[in-house]
Amino acid sequence: MSPILAPNTLDFISHSEAQTRRLGARLAAVLNPGDVLALIGELGTGKTRWVQGVCQGLEVAELAVSPTFTLVNEYQGRWPVYHIDLYRLADTSEALTFGLEDYLYGSGISLIEWADRAGKFLPDSYLAVELYHLEETKRRVVLRPHGARFIKVLDAFKEAAFAG
Ligand SMILES: Nc1ncnc2c1ncn2[C@@H]1O[C@H](COP(=O)(O)OP(=O)(O)O)[C@@H](O)[C@H]1O
Ligand SMILES: [Mg+2]
Repeated sequence: MSPILAPNTLDFISHSEAQTRRLGARLAAVLNPGDVLALIGELGTGKTRWVQGVCQGLEVAELAVSPTFTLVNEYQGRWPVYHIDLYRLADTSEALTFGLEDYLYGSGISLIEWADRAGKFLPDSYLAVELYHLEETKRRVVLRPHGARFIKVLDAFKEAAFAG
């Protein structure tokens, strides 16, 4: 893995599902309650695999699966984890109905699939995890911090995930 260290973004390739999970778990180590991850990418790019890795890193016992009939699954790990999937969001006003903002400004960690559909509800501070399908088992991953907090998170992650 050879990351491109552009200022304030991290751009690399995950070569396998297992690697994606592992990266998620390592990212979990530098997250705090209240943090928001915005997962953005087409179907099958690995958003849920990232969520599973983060949940594993946060010591959530069960395997995270995308919520099917609801927009959010709540888990309890080291902290509360809100796994939000906006794929079925009818329109942005529905985001208010299910209390998206309560999750985003709550005391847990919010992991949002299809976060690009959250529009103006995304907070000022979050880490975007952008996923692109390259080949069968290869995904381009771009981590893009929004706000000072996530610039620091990303620096800590770079050290943890790519050092040595
Ligand atoms: N490098 C990789 N990272 C993540 N998933 C991968 C990778 N290579 C292959 N896959 C496969 O891609 C699929 C990703 O599924 P999923 O995480 O549910 O995507 P999404 O939530 O974005 O729709 C899984 O079948 C997984 O095995
Ligand atoms: Mg998914």
